[in-house]
Amino acid sequence: MLINLFLWSLILSFLIIIIWSFNPRKYRSSLTVSSSYDAWTNDKLLEKLWGEHIHLGYYSQLSNSKDFKQAKIDFVHHLVHWSGLDKLPKGSRIIDIGCGIGGSSRILARDYDFDVVGVTISSEQVKRASQLTPKDLSCRFQVMDALNLKFQDGSYDGVWSVEAGAHILDKQRYADEMLRVLRPGGVLAVADWNRCNDKKLSLGLVDKLIMKQLLDQWSHPEFASIESFSENLLNSSFCGGKVESDDWSKFTKPSWNDSIMEGFRRLDVFIELGPKSFLHGIREIPTIILMRLAFGSGLMRFGVFRARG
Ligand SMILES: C[S@@+](CC[C@H](N)C(=O)[O-])C[C@H]1O[C@@H](n2cnc3c(N)ncnc32)[C@H](O)[C@@H]1O
Repeated sequence: MLINLFLWSLILSFLIIIIWSFNPRKYRSSLTVSSSYDAWTNDKLLEKLWGEHIHLGYYSQLSNSKDFKQAKIDFVHHLVHWSGLDKLPKGSRIIDIGCGIGGSSRILARDYDFDVVGVTISSEQVKRASQLTPKDLSCRFQVMDALNLKFQDGSYDGVWSVEAGAHILDKQRYADEMLRVLRPGGVLAVADWNRCNDKKLSLGLVDKLIMKQLLDQWSHPEFASIESFSENLLNSSFCGGKVESDDWSKFTKPSWNDSIMEGFRRLDVFIELGPKSFLHGIREIPTIILMRLAFGSGLMRFGVFRARG
């Protein structure tokens, strides 16, 4: 029995090492990001387990146990209120940059009566987002690079971008483009995975190796720190002056355990999608565990940012 278990663990570790070393998701350009998200969208596993929101959930500190998908919905409402987006009048034009399959966009359109455009680098996400969106909702989607937004200066009353920045190498241009399309006085709401402040903390070898895996496994070229991205926003010539940030690591951290647990709670998904999906799921577990460790130890932080145009 023990020998069997040992052999199976060995085979599984071997498989994971092979899959990890042959890694088409390692960031080379924005094309890597679009093909990774096209694949994640088409294999349906992410959507079945994470739902229509490809971002972490918000958990109160009093209770970590909450429905995973509800936690993601709660996250959107918390960020709307924290950023001040809820103060914008109904009908305000909002752009959701890096919109995924439109989870946030639909909430902004449905619950706040905003007129929403979601943009993403993945054409498969645009197709899926459009399928999931009722025709009567004021919410549509386009393929577009966040670094080259095809909109005039000041076109939007609000800019929303959740967990997209980690996929973008040129953080200054990402900040500039978001603030350029925001009208003067409009509201910017951003959330992202950030690294610790490396001006204060020098990383040891193990931390560096963990960081490299977190970058390479999910098509991330680099993580900004909360401090450096705040500077990017402040340095933009379109910034209205004040930039505020906060660290929501403690509110979002339970999402990592829930991401793994959801796989066990929803074994029906693997039966529905077939054996390949099981291997895809197993492949993500080491990265999710590393993320949990990194967010738990302070190596990574969950940054939120608000600013005015
Ligand atoms: C982690 S997902 C978050 C999706 C969505 N914001 C959500 O919360 O459900 C990252 C998103 O950023 C998008 N993205 C990454 N790089 C981008 C770029 N250069 N331009 C536009 N979208 C980009 C991806 O296509 C994906 O939709």
